[in-house]
Amino acid sequence: MQLIESVQEMIAWRKEYSEFSLGFVPTMGYLHGGHLSLVERAMTENQITCVSIFVNPAQFGPAEDFKSYPRDLARDLGLLRCCSVGVIFSPHAKEMYPPDFQTYVSVQDVTRPLEGAARPGHFAGVTTIVAKLFNIVQPTRVYFGQKDAQQVKVIEQMVRDLNYPLEIVTCPIVREPDGLAMSSRNTYLSDYEREQATVIYRSLATAKRLYEGGQRDPRTIKAAVLDVLKQEPAAEIEYVSLADNHTLQEVTRPIANGQEVLISMAVKLGQPRLIDNLILGGTDDDGMLAEVNEGIQ
Ligand code: PAJ
Repeated sequence: MQLIESVQEMIAWRKEYSEFSLGFVPTMGYLHGGHLSLVERAMTENQITCVSIFVNPAQFGPAEDFKSYPRDLARDLGLLRCCSVGVIFSPHAKEMYPPDFQTYVSVQDVTRPLEGAARPGHFAGVTTIVAKLFNIVQPTRVYFGQKDAQQVKVIEQMVRDLNYPLEIVTCPIVREPDGLAMSSRNTYLSDYEREQATVIYRSLATAKRLYEGGQRDPRTIKAAVLDVLKQEPAAEIEYVSLADNHTLQEVTRPIANGQEVLISMAVKLGQPRLIDNLILGGTDDDGMLAEVNEGIQ
C-alpha cells in the first residue's frame, strides 16, 4: 500500500499503471464499515484500487463542522492496510485549493432540493473536488454510497454533462446492527443521542411497512414518518421528503405502480446532523428494513 500526498506524484503513479483498471473511492476519511464496503466492491471489480482521504473545505458552509470534522489518518491507513488497498491519495488542502484557485464546477437543477436547499453551496464544493479528483486519479470506476443519495445523482449528472469516461457504481447503505446508518459524524453522538438516533431508521421502516401494506398516499406516509421521529425529544427534524427518485421533485400525487420514491431526511441530534434515506418501489437491497419491521409488528 502506498500513501501519496502530492498531486504530481498521484498523476505520475496513475500514468505508470495506466493499463490497469482502477477503482476509485473518494472519502473524507474517518473510515467506517460504509466506506469499507465501497473499497471491497472496488477491489473485486478492478485491478487496482485508490482511496482518497480529503476533508474538503469547499463543501462545508461557514457555520458547519469543517474544523471539528473527525480526522485520523493513521487509523484510516491501518484499516485500509487490512484490505490491501493499492494507493491512498491524501492531498494537502493548500495544493488542492491554492490561494489563486477560482474555478468551480456547479451542477444546476438536481442540486436545488433537499441537501442543496439545506446546505447552500455544498454541492458546488462536492462537484468541484470530485471533478479535480477524477482528473488526477483517472479512474475506470468510481464507488459512491446510496447513503448520500442526492450526491450520487449530482455526480451522475456531472459525469454525463462533462463526458467523464468512467462508470459510477452505487453501493447500498451499511447500517449498525440497530439500523443507524454508519457515518463519520456518528462519533459526535453522546450515549443518549446515539440511543435516540435509532428513531431515524425506525421512521424509515414505518414508511416501508405502510408502502408494503398498500399505502400509496405520500402525505399519509410522510405524516407517519414525522410521527415516529417526533417520539424522540432529542431529534430535531430539518426535513423529511418523499421525492421522485429520478427527478428529486416532491411527490404530491399517489405513488404510481413502478414509480421509485426516495424518502430522505436530515435530523439533528445535538450537534451532529444525520441524513438517511430509503427507496420505495425500487429493488430492495436494504434487507434489514424487513427485519426491523418484523420487530415493530
Ligand atoms: P464521505 O462522507 O467520507 O463518504 C465517502 C463515501 O462513502 C460516499 O460515497 C458516501 O456515500 C459513502 N458512505 C458513507 N456512509 C455510508 C454508509 N453508511 N453506507 C454506504 N456508503 C456510505 O461523501 C463524501 O465523503 C464527500 O462528499 C466526497 C464524495 C468524498 C467529496 O468530498
